[in-house]
Amino acid sequence: MNKSPNVVWQSGGLTREDRERQNGQTACVVWFTGLPCSGKSTVAHAVERTLYDEGRRVYVLDGDNVRHGLCGDLGFTLEERNENIRRVAEVAALLCDGGIIVLTAFISPLRSERSMARSKLPSGRFFEVFCNADLAVCEKRDVKGMYRRARRGEIDNYTGISSPYEAPEHPELRLDTVSLDVAGAAQAVIDMLSDAGILSSKKPLFPQSGQKKKA
Ligand SMILES: Nc1ncnc2c1ncn2[C@@H]1O[C@H](COP(=O)(O)OP(=O)(O)O)[C@@H](O)[C@H]1O
Ligand SMILES: [Mg+2]
Repeated sequence: MNKSPNVVWQSGGLTREDRERQNGQTACVVWFTGLPCSGKSTVAHAVERTLYDEGRRVYVLDGDNVRHGLCGDLGFTLEERNENIRRVAEVAALLCDGGIIVLTAFISPLRSERSMARSKLPSGRFFEVFCNADLAVCEKRDVKGMYRRARRGEIDNYTGISSPYEAPEHPELRLDTVSLDVAGAAQAVIDMLSDAGILSSKKPLFPQSGQKKKA
């Protein structure tokens, strides 16, 4: 529910196109989804590193990090998860408007919330990437020991154990993180962005901007 009906969007003189031109890239959101431990954070950060090293303006919004601050007031009921994703989708859309390539790493278990996130972006700027790994593999990885705790009943609403996960039906990219290694998965994401023309524009005009010259 919008409790701020009397606000008017303030537009400045600069547009997303201006910022994209300066950044030498097309801004977009790459939305990773998948079970816990399916590889969302790992692949998103590998892609971020590669793009950063190429001089791209790129940023990862990661589930655990966002819950330290912006969404620290939210738990894991479906209602709270939806609110979590709603906020993240809004932030991702703002960063995209700022000319940034945004990578998001959230379980985002429901098709409806991923579709809501997609609706916040201009067409062709949202790429849903499904990190696909069997529950058994994810549970074995158990990077943070959460599956073990969920199985013991110490964590409620844990995706894959006691909370649902709806796999994407038509993602822009399906990454099989069991057969691929991390580098291969990251490369597949970069190839997807290249094929979509996101990375075809020239490099940033001012890669060193913001550095004061020595007197
Ligand atoms: N192809 C792959 N892509 C991503 N992660 C992989 C891959 N193969 C093995 N892994 C391992 O799986 C784990 C995934 O953990 P993480 O990225 O934190 O998952 P998530 O963010 O989805 O919860 C990491 O320990 C990573 O090294
Ligand atoms: Mg993660």
